[in-house]
Amino acid sequence: MPYYSDETIEQVRQSTDIVQLISGFVNLKRKGSNYFGLCPFHNEKTSSFSVSENKQMYYCFGCHATGNVYTFLMKHENMSFMEAVQYLAEKAGIKLPQADESEEAKRIRGRRERLYLVNTEAAKYFYKALRSPQGELGLKYFKGRELSEETMQKFGLGYSLQYSDDMTKYLQKKGFTIEELTAAGVSSYDERYGARDKFYNRVMFPIMNGSGKVIGFGGRVMGEGEPKYLNTSETEIFEKRKNLFGLNLARSSRARNFILCEGYMDVISLHQAGFDQAMASLGTAFTSDQAMILKRFGREVLLAYDSDGAGVNAALRALSILRACGMSGRVINMQPYKDPDEFIKNLGAEEYEERLKKAENGFMFEVRILRKDYDFSDPASKTAFYNEVAKKLCVFEEEMERENYIEAVSEEYGIPKEALKKQVISLVLKGGVKLPETGAENAAGRHTAQPRSEDNDKYAQRVLLTWLSEEPQKYKGISEFISADDFTDPIYHKVAVRMLHDMEEGQPNPAAIINMFEDADEQQQAGQVFHTKLDAIVTDEEKEKAFRDIVLKVKQERFDHDNKAAEGGLSLEEKLAQKRLMEDLRRRIRP
Ligand code: UTP
Ligand code: MN
Repeated sequence: MPYYSDETIEQVRQSTDIVQLISGFVNLKRKGSNYFGLCPFHNEKTSSFSVSENKQMYYCFGCHATGNVYTFLMKHENMSFMEAVQYLAEKAGIKLPQADESEEAKRIRGRRERLYLVNTEAAKYFYKALRSPQGELGLKYFKGRELSEETMQKFGLGYSLQYSDDMTKYLQKKGFTIEELTAAGVSSYDERYGARDKFYNRVMFPIMNGSGKVIGFGGRVMGEGEPKYLNTSETEIFEKRKNLFGLNLARSSRARNFILCEGYMDVISLHQAGFDQAMASLGTAFTSDQAMILKRFGREVLLAYDSDGAGVNAALRALSILRACGMSGRVINMQPYKDPDEFIKNLGAEEYEERLKKAENGFMFEVRILRKDYDFSDPASKTAFYNEVAKKLCVFEEEMERENYIEAVSEEYGIPKEALKKQVISLVLKGGVKLPETGAENAAGRHTAQPRSEDNDKYAQRVLLTWLSEEPQKYKGISEFISADDFTDPIYHKVAVRMLHDMEEGQPNPAAIINMFEDADEQQQAGQVFHTKLDAIVTDEEKEKAFRDIVLKVKQERFDHDNKAAEGGLSLEEKLAQKRLMEDLRRRIRP
């Protein structure tokens, strides 16, 4: 990746006012020293998204999204760090120097560019083959599925011929090595036959990443045969978990939502019918990585999964992943048809538009599916259903939201509202109900500021950093004992190195510290360092004592961490030294 010097990045950041930038996307109103608006990163009805002119950062009290101008563009506009720098530099009229690149970065980029190139050339080959005399079968297939020439072009559809190594030879002639062809996943190699085409006699769907580069293919068999779809296996540039078929087009749709489908053909026929916000996960279930990508756009997600049993299960799974990532989804009812393709062929685009409008709230969908397992003529079964529903309602942490769902569910299923509410509250108070398991904990955990989703020791590190950023004068009292190495979490460590250094010389500069991270998720984590809610942890009177406790905790956990990391444990002497230091600390930092 090319990079600009820290000074340049900081200069561009300082030339941009965050309030002005975000105002272009979010309606902001001044409240005290901050600005507030509806959070673009989660659905909400009351404004919990704040932008601070002083800190030059934004923070959402609802979903804890945070960062500086760069983070905002990366998350909201799906830009890379470099794109965000370039975008803001241009707006501010700053001429960027030629970007530098390390040798290693050059090599990796060169390699990836080669693999993109293999895929692009392969896509061109398939595209031409579809229009060649030998491609007649493929063209007939697509025409049979009523795809227009325009649609086929838009998606770059193609055909892989019935030869076994025609494309491999063609690409070799173009100068690609067999190693490159197999690494890109378009050829396979074995001792006996040498290099051969991976795909043959299939209609081909090129898969593009978010910025429109071809990264792999799906190929559908002609007629019956297994597998129905053959997909490129994982390669250095093709990660199924992190890409969505059609996203490169859907991202620039003017629709306020995304339609998430199951298959290639669903996406294509939706686009042809005018729904250019359609996309699909790639031959695997919807993942939390994909959810996090969609979240950046702040649009609603509508599920268009097949209406059969497997489709319903896939939809339930997708809904819980969306929820774990802080989003809610709605489900499109396609009855009496199986999928969007069939639906539109039979009832047309207008009727589908109606179904979009009527898409069912994800939670209500889950409850409706749950209902099918119970028999209301049996009081015991009915009670069991009520209990299950009460448990499910505990996922809503915000009272208002929970109330609204309690109301909706009790109305729909004739459950006495007050009784249901009581049951939910007693479950919440018991705290015995865990949020549903989804396998999306990581993605979700990264984006909440709750201590429960983070190791306890990391939490202490974060509290201490927030504290120091808000009351830098406190650093004097502890600078003798605390160093950046006490922050064992890699991101907090990086923040601490810079922050403690800044404090030696004056004030820390939070928004500048975020620049040190290129990855939007890391920026988010670094940003949280400045937004731990201290007043939720301690009252004013307890503050001094709490500060001392936090410092001690960070230090103690640093020692524990060193202990664990040292092979065979620390020596007795080292342990004694640690003990002395802790005692010393306890004495010296007086509450
Ligand atoms: P479907 O079988 O529903 O395919 O699988 P489809 O897209 O509706 O295709 P048509 O209409 O039968 O031609 C849904 C998706 O699951 C993946 C593909 O991504 C497909 O689009 N899949 C399915 C595979 O990866 N491999 C398979 O063998 C089958
Ligand atoms: Mn299907």
